[in-house]
Amino acid sequence: MLMNMKDLLAVAYKHQFAVGSFNVANSEFVRVIIESAEEKNAPAIIQIHPNEVELLGDDFITYVRESCRNAKVPMVIHLDHGGSVEDVMRAIRNGFTSVMIDASHASFEDNIAISKEVVKLAHSVNVSVEAELGTIGSNEGSSEGGADVILYTDVDDAKTFVEQTGIDTLAIAIGTSHGQYKHDRQPELKLDLLAEINKNVDIPLVLHGGSDNKDEEISQTYLHGVSKINLSTDMKNAFFKEMRRFLIENDTAYEPDMIMPSARKAAQEVVKKKMDLFNSTNQA
Ligand code: 13P
Ligand code: ZN
Ligand code: NA
Repeated sequence: MLMNMKDLLAVAYKHQFAVGSFNVANSEFVRVIIESAEEKNAPAIIQIHPNEVELLGDDFITYVRESCRNAKVPMVIHLDHGGSVEDVMRAIRNGFTSVMIDASHASFEDNIAISKEVVKLAHSVNVSVEAELGTIGSNEGSSEGGADVILYTDVDDAKTFVEQTGIDTLAIAIGTSHGQYKHDRQPELKLDLLAEINKNVDIPLVLHGGSDNKDEEISQTYLHGVSKINLSTDMKNAFFKEMRRFLIENDTAYEPDMIMPSARKAAQEVVKKKMDLFNSTNQA
């Protein structure tokens, strides 16, 4: 079933689990996420980045939306890192039930102003809004964007930002980055900062850059208000790594129904493990 982000995350916030929010860029990933969610009896969010919208085209969103509506578990279709009011309006027109406006690189005042404008537009048609304060890091190979130097979210700013904008969920920066870390180095998350933010802000928090972190740190985040964890790289990596292996071993293969199943299975294994890690298994 298709849900509003605000309603879904209110349940996650209360019961201390995080809903996985997975990026899709083709129909294989849509099926991977929905089938994993149904198998795990877990709610899930399908998010699409403006680059991915560009790749897929508007009509594809209709397919994603209908797939979510027909799913046996709660699903949300969410715009990831909307960069402008135009991105947000395109998403709303295409039937997204939730949008992110990411003006985290603008000044604090401008971030408030643009996020507030998006809230006004989106709330008038019952679409939820996520905005970001602070910056997520960026690793090589990820097209999600991010900053070279992470600016950690300031606790007082977060409180002011949420009060002034009226957003439904806040993406925070506590040390994660988009993509995969080099040389097996993993980040240290500032869990104390997260706990402080959670004490001062009364809406669900969002963790970006969910891939390639320490499991024992991720499993602390939903105890401190993180109700949505964005995950892209680990799932896509598993999919294409297996596809690469298959194509090298079967170097004359060309039929999708031969090539896709093992890649899909590899991605599905990752998604299901993340649902366990996020404590969203059996929460549907
Ligand atoms: P990862 O690619 O690190 O999983 O981050 C995904 C993300 O934050 C998308 O918004
Ligand atoms: Zn992100
Ligand atoms: Na990451």
